[in-house]
Amino acid sequence: MEFNKYLQEIRKYKVPDKDIYFINREREIEKVTEIVNKSCTNIIIIYGPWGCGKTEFARALTYAADKINDDVYVMYLNPLEEKRIEFGIKISKIDTWQYLKFRFEKDISELLKTFNIPELIFSITKTIAYSISLLVEKWKLRNKNLILIIDEVKQIIERIWFQPNALITALYNGRGIREELNLRNLTYIIMSSDQVIVQELFREIGKCEIYMMWHLHYNAFKELCKQLNLNEIELIWKLTNGCPREIIQIQEKGVKKWIIEKIEHIKNTIRKIINETGIEFNELINEFRKILENEGSYVSKIEKYLIQDNIIIISRHPEFIISKIDNIQEFQNKLWICQIPIYKYIIETIVKTRNVSIKPEEVLESI
Ligand SMILES: Nc1ncnc2c1ncn2[C@@H]1O[C@H](COP(=O)(O)OP(=O)(O)O)[C@@H](O)[C@H]1O
Ligand SMILES: [Mg+2]
Repeated sequence: MEFNKYLQEIRKYKVPDKDIYFINREREIEKVTEIVNKSCTNIIIIYGPWGCGKTEFARALTYAADKINDDVYVMYLNPLEEKRIEFGIKISKIDTWQYLKFRFEKDISELLKTFNIPELIFSITKTIAYSISLLVEKWKLRNKNLILIIDEVKQIIERIWFQPNALITALYNGRGIREELNLRNLTYIIMSSDQVIVQELFREIGKCEIYMMWHLHYNAFKELCKQLNLNEIELIWKLTNGCPREIIQIQEKGVKKWIIEKIEHIKNTIRKIINETGIEFNELINEFRKILENEGSYVSKIEKYLIQDNIIIISRHPEFIISKIDNIQEFQNKLWICQIPIYKYIIETIVKTRNVSIKPEEVLESI
């Protein structure tokens, strides 16, 4: 896999629904290239904040592999896109996705019949091995490199009713099929925005590599703003830290309406915390204060709700972050970090005013 070719080709990918070209992600391409160029089996987990660009990166990579005439084959699966199947399954260099869809669904329904976990792991291992062997035979992939991307892995895990780590164990147990099928490289890339699932997957760290993907770095962010004709870029940077999905929403709704929605999001989480834990409002404010004062090091009883609702994200040592980031020191020695800075500003404003019904102007003042 040639880094430069992929870097060039990936820039030609157009983001669907938006009339913009795919931006940046050099570091991520570099990492994938490095992994694929070893002849071995890899199980890679990529997690990251909601909307940071995981799915788009996977699609862009599949697109590039499709255009480049080399021996890298990417198969992209996204169970959330079953209505728009052309987005849900894509295999580079191969256009017969119908066949695969049929194959995959049949195999998964076989799996549903088993509920015993060890047996399930065995049959998942078998099913995956079988599906890959069909691919390899049908499209003559011997001596080639195969990247299998499973996006929104939570969907698969929930549908077949098993524990997240069982999937990793199944892939791990079946890693020998690479040699059996004479594949040069076999790389599984599992993607998830769901922090609860990711926490479970952390337990399987010996069997896989876990990386965090981050938002766009400052220069890439500027490029996106330019393509979207956005002004006020310094403010948008402070609010989003380069999260492409949030930037697109700001373009569509305007800053004010966007902040109102973010306040609503935090209010819903607060409601949930109060209902489920019975915590008093004053105590909740104190808890938020402690969280803000000791960002990333204070373990709070309300933390799990902030994780569930994609407000904070479990942090990792900087060496496990694949993306280029400008504020690397912010990740040092932190257990978690806010997914986007606006959440921090909103919580600060709530603590300061001891009121949850705050206005976007108040939040903007605190920046
Ligand atoms: N590298 C990029 N260049 C341009 N737009 C991007 C890029 N990455 C993401 N986007 C935009 O941001 C949106 C959210 O990204 P997505 O990949 O769906 O996030 P995630 O899967 O991490 O939740 C995409 O629909 C796309 O419009
Ligand atoms: Mg996604």
